[in-house]
Amino acid sequence: MDRIRIVGGQELRGTIPISGAKNAALPLMIASLLTRETLTLGNVPNLADVRMLVRILGHHGVDYSQNGRRAGEDAHASRPIHLSARDIVDITAPYELVSRMRASFWVIAPLLARMGEARVSLPGGCAIGTRPVDLLLMALEKLGAAITIEAGYAHATAPRGLKGAEIDFSKVTVGGTHTAMMAAVLADGHTRLTNAAQEPEVVDLAACLNAMGARIEGAGTATVDIHGVGSLHGAYHNVLPDRIEAGTYAMAAAMAGGDVLLDGARPDDLRAALDVLTRAGASVTETNAGVRIKRNGAGISPVDISTAPHPGFPTDLQAQFMALMTKAKGASRITETIFENRFMHVQELARLGARIRLDGDIATVEGVRSLQGAPVMATDLRASVSLVIAALAAEGETLVNRVYHLDRGFEHLEEKLGRCGAVVERLSSPG
Ligand code: EPZ
Repeated sequence: MDRIRIVGGQELRGTIPISGAKNAALPLMIASLLTRETLTLGNVPNLADVRMLVRILGHHGVDYSQNGRRAGEDAHASRPIHLSARDIVDITAPYELVSRMRASFWVIAPLLARMGEARVSLPGGCAIGTRPVDLLLMALEKLGAAITIEAGYAHATAPRGLKGAEIDFSKVTVGGTHTAMMAAVLADGHTRLTNAAQEPEVVDLAACLNAMGARIEGAGTATVDIHGVGSLHGAYHNVLPDRIEAGTYAMAAAMAGGDVLLDGARPDDLRAALDVLTRAGASVTETNAGVRIKRNGAGISPVDISTAPHPGFPTDLQAQFMALMTKAKGASRITETIFENRFMHVQELARLGARIRLDGDIATVEGVRSLQGAPVMATDLRASVSLVIAALAAEGETLVNRVYHLDRGFEHLEEKLGRCGAVVERLSSPG
């Protein structure tokens, strides 16, 4: 298994291109199941999760192809992918596939909307929490689906099609909002979602569905209206830039010091995190190209945060922010309100010398003067990258194990950091 070796202590200076957002690409790819025609997606990141989803969609009958690289094209430029679900050949998403990537459960919505039936394995728990799907199933039931749970599978049927409905989410859920939108676009009549997720990825999915002929209004607010249409057609859509990747490198620049341009980052999607970074002592400038983060000389100030649905501080940046706070001049409190078990990075950060006390959903981070490199590993994507951030400011060498977690969500991580002066390399090991 590959590892990443980092020698800390270098400032970061340069430009980091921000890739397309993983968490937008996944639902957008799943939306291809809604039409017989080809959905072309630009700016799709080349990540393990995307490759896995291509396999999963292939199982349902989706043909996948990618444009060839043109002469002289940057080897890292992402090439448009084409997804064609001309015929759905299987309405079952088996355990072996869904258990490898939770978001693949969302195929239940387009399969049900288009075929009147879907059988999808329940995803089960994961490293960051129990992560139930009750609200996703509630939304489909409101739209008229009959759902039974049989042998670990959710079996949803709507032989006479789905019907528009009022769907009120008792808790904000990104996956619930994605699935309700994908199901309601082909339902008969009007659907209104209330307490919907307002994440930029929801807005991106709605924009793509509208380009495919759907009629969705209000995405990005708490109330989303969907007027059902008879069928969707093919479209071209560019995946939005990854706000979590941008936020991660912003934290890295604040941690290591220096001056980094996050090329392509959209500041409006990152407002809460950028405000917190400013309060922590980084200088944040919005430019035509993206966002520039600088920290020269001044120390890091402690800031208390609490994660919240968008536009609040994203849970997907909580681990990275905690890494930054480990070197703050004082104590900070980090409250995780979205997932009950998203503190696995705490013990690993402690291996680097961090002082963190956990009490339920609150972590109190006592900043230390210096961190020391060590071998570390983590059990999820964002936790892993928090260790990379800490390692950039640690004395000596850190070896981050289980790099496959990073490969699920960060494209060309070591090249992007290396180009800004970080000493970082991938150590490949056979097998
Ligand atoms: C999405 O997960 C993201 N995944 C997560 O990113 C992200 O952390 C999360 O949204 C919150 O922003 C993708 O987009 C692929 P939720 P999702 O439904 O949709 C509870 C990463 O690192 N809930 O918004 O699964 C749930 O347990 C990943 O890239 C229910 O109770 O998250 C959680 O407490 C990790 N019942 C809260 O809602 C349900 O039926 C928010 O979850 C559904 C959710």
